[in-house]
Amino acid sequence: MDVAPLQVAEFQDRLLSLGLARVSEAAALASAGLIGRGDEKAADQAAVNAMRDQLNLLDIKGVVVIGEGERDEAPMLYIGEEVGTGNGPAVDIALDPLEGTTLTAKDMPNALTVIAMAPRGTLLHAPDVYMEKLAIGPGHRPGTVTLAMSPSERVSALAAAKGCSTNDITVCVLERPRHEEMIAEIRSTGAAIRLITDGDVAGVMHCAEPDLTGIDMYMGSGGAPEGVLAAAALKCMGGQFFGKLLFRNDDERARARKAGINNFDRVYTRDDLVRGDVIFAATGVTDGSLLAGIKREPSHLTTETILMRSKTGSVRRMTYRNPIRT
Ligand code: FBP
Repeated sequence: MDVAPLQVAEFQDRLLSLGLARVSEAAALASAGLIGRGDEKAADQAAVNAMRDQLNLLDIKGVVVIGEGERDEAPMLYIGEEVGTGNGPAVDIALDPLEGTTLTAKDMPNALTVIAMAPRGTLLHAPDVYMEKLAIGPGHRPGTVTLAMSPSERVSALAAAKGCSTNDITVCVLERPRHEEMIAEIRSTGAAIRLITDGDVAGVMHCAEPDLTGIDMYMGSGGAPEGVLAAAALKCMGGQFFGKLLFRNDDERARARKAGINNFDRVYTRDDLVRGDVIFAATGVTDGSLLAGIKREPSHLTTETILMRSKTGSVRRMTYRNPIRT
């Protein structure tokens, strides 16, 4: 029986998404033995190696656009590295084999492995600089909150949109000295703050499921590459995201130019960062409010993975119990 080409493409896309979940699972499993061992580099390296090996089994013509760094500073999964078997669709790959290396080394919550795949040329090639970020969950009209608003105006605007008091809003923020003023301003509104020590991809994702996570809004600066990954997650889960690149010196501006970015003041929306359909997979390494961390039994390791496709809005959660090979 002949199958229409469109149906075949759709089917491949679905199969590929499952392959992507295996990639994030493999990275998480590889880092399992390094949770709580105080060695960030070793945990990251284990995740990178496993992610790369598994990614290279996928039938894709992939190029890493968000990766471990520039070619001269990252031997593997560097920006521009070609990945996959070379047979299959041309895609952009954005990844963070271990989002929260310190969280993993210290066995603290919300460390994840993360990967996103999208048609070639549709993900922003974000340079490794900071990004000012703002995110809220789904169901709000465009313009409800903006980067142009002050932190307290954003809290008031979101409270008004939700029909609640500012006291009922919880904002997630990275605990950094650079955020002290912003934290004080948010507190002046009566809103609660969930401070996280690392891992703002998870921080942003929490906004998409406020009833589950208790977080209504994310704000503050963090890595720009993580901003693209967070935007990919929100594109699948629903929610608004805004990001503006922050430059501290000419070297950072040069990195941006090299990545093809010339407008340094641009505010990127979620759909500017991720311009087409995207598939997103993340696996919990340590326990978090969105995903369980790796569970160890004497003979097995179990992971939980979230796998999402923006095309369909589907969100799949998978547990994978895997015998420990000796
Ligand atoms: P790593 O996993 O590379 O350690 O990054 C964790 C992270 O917390 C990101 O989630 C966040 O975007 C960035 O670091 C924040 O950077 P900084 O630590 O310089 O404030």
